[in-house]
Amino acid sequence: MRKKINVAIAGVGNCASAFIQGTQYYGSNDSASNDSASNNDMIGLTSFNLGGYEPSDINFVAAFDIADTKVGKDLSESVFASPNNAMSITNVPLFEVKVNKGNVLDGFGRRYSEKVKISDVPQTDVASILKDSKTDILINYLPVGSREATRFYAEKCLESKVCFINAIPVFIASDPNWQTRFIDKNIPCAGDDIMSQMGATVIHKTLAKLLVDRGVSVDETFQLNVGGDMDFYNMLDEDRLEDKRVSKTSAVKSMIPYDVPMRIGPSDYVAFLQNDKVCYIYVKGRIMGAVPIELDLKLRVPDAYNSAGVMIDAVRGAKIALDRNISGPLESISAYCFKHPPVQMSYSAAKSDFVDFVNGKKDK
Ligand SMILES: NC(=O)c1ccc[n+]([C@@H]2O[C@H](COP(=O)([O-])OP(=O)(O)OC[C@H]3O[C@@H](n4cnc5c(N)ncnc54)[C@H](O)[C@@H]3O)[C@@H](O)[C@H]2O)c1
Repeated sequence: MRKKINVAIAGVGNCASAFIQGTQYYGSNDSASNDSASNNDMIGLTSFNLGGYEPSDINFVAAFDIADTKVGKDLSESVFASPNNAMSITNVPLFEVKVNKGNVLDGFGRRYSEKVKISDVPQTDVASILKDSKTDILINYLPVGSREATRFYAEKCLESKVCFINAIPVFIASDPNWQTRFIDKNIPCAGDDIMSQMGATVIHKTLAKLLVDRGVSVDETFQLNVGGDMDFYNMLDEDRLEDKRVSKTSAVKSMIPYDVPMRIGPSDYVAFLQNDKVCYIYVKGRIMGAVPIELDLKLRVPDAYNSAGVMIDAVRGAKIALDRNISGPLESISAYCFKHPPVQMSYSAAKSDFVDFVNGKKDK
C-alpha cells in the first residue's frame, strides 16, 4: 500500500480543477488524456517520484466552496461546474467527497456576485470536517482579495492541526505573526501566491536577474496581464488587487539591487481568452557606453495548468515536512513554488534548495 497525502481544497475554481486533473493525469493510461500510451512523464513536475510520493498519492478528502453551482456536488463534478473554464485533460473519477459550504466572508467580491449565486445551504464546521476527514494539508485557492476568508481557513488549520498551503496573494506563510502561530502549534505552512511553471513572474524575475548579472542597467519595466476567467474578472475590482501587485512586484524587485520604476500586475479581462492568460513584459535599459536597449516579451498560456504541476510538487514537499515533523514556514518549498515566500531567492537557488530539502540535505 502506498502512503497517501490527504488533501482538502478551499475554493474549487480553475486552479483546483487543473490540480485535481493533474493528480489523475500522471500515471494514468487514460484514453481521454493527451498521451494515450502512458503519462508516467514528468512534464511540469520536479520529478515523477518526489521523496517517495507520486502525484496519484494525493488523495482528496474534503472540499469547501460557496457557489451554488459547486456546493453539494461531488468534488469530481464540481471542478467542471460553471464558471470554471479550465480545459479538460483527463477523466476524473467520482471521489465521493462532497463540496461543503465554507464561510463566505470577503471571498465573494462585487464581480463574483455578478456571475455566481451563493449557495443557500447552511455553512459547515470547517475545523470538524478537517479533523474527521484526517486532512493532512489544506490548499487555499480563494479569489484574490479574500483576506478575511484566507485568515479564516488558516485559523481552522491551526485549530485542527492541518498544514496550510496558500496559493493566493494574502500574506500568511510570509507574515511573521502567522509564522509564529504555526511554529507554536507545530504545524508547517507554505506560500504565498503560487508561482506558475512558466508564468509571468518566473520569467520576469529570471530576466531581471540575467540583465543585472550581465551588467545591464535596468531603467524601467512593466508586466501587463490579461485573461478571460473568473480570476481575471474578479481582479477588475482594483480594491482587491493590492496584495497581488505587492506579491508580483516584490518577486521582480528582489532581483534588482537598486530602485527601478516598475508597474506589474493584472491589467484587464478579455472574455474570449477563457482560461488563457496573455502576458506582456517590457524592459528598457542600458548596456556599455550607456547605449539604450529595449526588450519585449509575450507569453500565452492556459493559466490554471501553469500552476497545477507546481502545486503537485508543493503538496508532496509539504507532506515530506509533515513526515519529518517540521513546523512553521517551509522556506525552500515556498521560495521554489511561490511568488511571495518568507525568503525570496533566485529561481535557480530556490530549486536547488528545494531538491536539497526533499533529499534531506536541508532542514526547511
Ligand atoms: N496560474 C494561476 O492560475 C494562479 C497563479 C497564482 C495565483 N493564483 C491564485 O489562485 C486563486 C485561485 O485561482 P482560480 O483561477 O482557481 O480562481 P477561481 O475564481 O476560478 O476560483 C475561486 C473559487 O473560490 C470559491 N470561493 C470564494 N469564496 C470562498 C469562500 N469563502 N470559501 C470557499 N470557497 C470560496 C469560488 O466560488 C471559486 O470556486 C486566485 O486567488 C488566483 O489569483 C492562480
